[in-house]
Amino acid sequence: MSRRVLLCALMLILVASTVSFAQNQLIIFSWWTAGGEEDGLFALYDVYQAQHPDVEIVNATVAGGAGTNAKAVLKTRMLGNDPPDSFQVHGGSELIDTWVKTGYMEPITDLWKEEGWFDAFPQDLIDMISYEGEVYAVPANIHRSNALYYNVKLFEKYDIEVPTNLDEFFAVAEVFKENGIPALAIGSRNLWEVSHLFESVIAAVAGPEFYNELFQGKHPWTEPRVVECLKILGRVFDYINADHPTVTWDQACGYVLQGQAAMTIMGDWAKGYFTANDAEPNVDFGSVPSPGTEGIFIVVTDTFGLPKGAPNRDNAINWLRTLGSVEGQNGFNPKKGSIPARIDVPTDPYDVIALSTMEDFGKDVLIPSVAHGSAVIDAFASALNDEMGLYIVERDAEKSAERLEMQAQDLGLR
Ligand code: GAL
Repeated sequence: MSRRVLLCALMLILVASTVSFAQNQLIIFSWWTAGGEEDGLFALYDVYQAQHPDVEIVNATVAGGAGTNAKAVLKTRMLGNDPPDSFQVHGGSELIDTWVKTGYMEPITDLWKEEGWFDAFPQDLIDMISYEGEVYAVPANIHRSNALYYNVKLFEKYDIEVPTNLDEFFAVAEVFKENGIPALAIGSRNLWEVSHLFESVIAAVAGPEFYNELFQGKHPWTEPRVVECLKILGRVFDYINADHPTVTWDQACGYVLQGQAAMTIMGDWAKGYFTANDAEPNVDFGSVPSPGTEGIFIVVTDTFGLPKGAPNRDNAINWLRTLGSVEGQNGFNPKKGSIPARIDVPTDPYDVIALSTMEDFGKDVLIPSVAHGSAVIDAFASALNDEMGLYIVERDAEKSAERLEMQAQDLGLR
């Protein structure tokens, strides 16, 4: 080979490697792959892509509701110095204890000031994403955890009123049971679905103040009110679908939609699932606060922040700008089933259920979700999931309470 040819070849290699280095990407990590949640994510990508057509979005999703698998993959990436540009994380403990206090995130307080967001988002949410005076994320949404979804036609067929408290729930459940229909569809495949149900039961039975204090470690898990909550949860199990151990949250929603079950208790990403499947609010499915929780709003908020070492930092910052913008919020939330985290957006893209959720958010007692990362550290949330997996089989309330107390003590929460 002549020297000239060799030189040309070397230059080509150099150019090719520069091109691949200069890839203009945005790597977004989430677990939004189910009906509704994926639609919301893609709508958000559309908004971003219209503003930044030259950027290639890498949709780094790991399937599994509530981050069952994604959270572990994210840990591997972050600890292995391979962060995405931005990732889905619940406001509250999951963001602050897992990622901020450990030094993995950049503060974005200046971005908040620049964008005027301090006047656009509710203070309760800002508190959930702040630490020592700095803000670390942008909330994409507000989901309500304590929501009951029901099949309108089934309730009409049996001429039943939708239950508003637990006594009514058990009475209604009995009617469906007599007619061979599981009253409550749940999936317990990933266990968090049971913790999800349990947090609604605790709020209903013991009230929001006790709920907060319990998860702050101020009460022993063995105390009678907790045992009572467990027993009531046990009674609910008498009315669920038999195949729950193999079912996921969205499959459980599918049962409700198809009339194979009457109700499900799930966050309002369920609404995203229903509407993505062409179901119409208040025609095919309806929603009320889960029994006994009227006036209480269990808050779930998905947020995105800026990990240190984000490979495409500028694109990541623009992603956060899009997410916090009116256009971003209103592209995403109507599809996701959530309400916007911003309080100043036009409400015309939202359905009747979302509008009433917005109203409730403004007046209800707000408490953070346990099953969705806000109220307690990850390790305890996982322990609770595991315990729920045992409880749904053993149904021994005292024993579960004792084990939970041991876990809380081992993790230094009590
Ligand atoms: C929650 C999350 C929601 C929804 C749900 C099911 O933890 O906050 O946005 O995705 O999991 O996957």
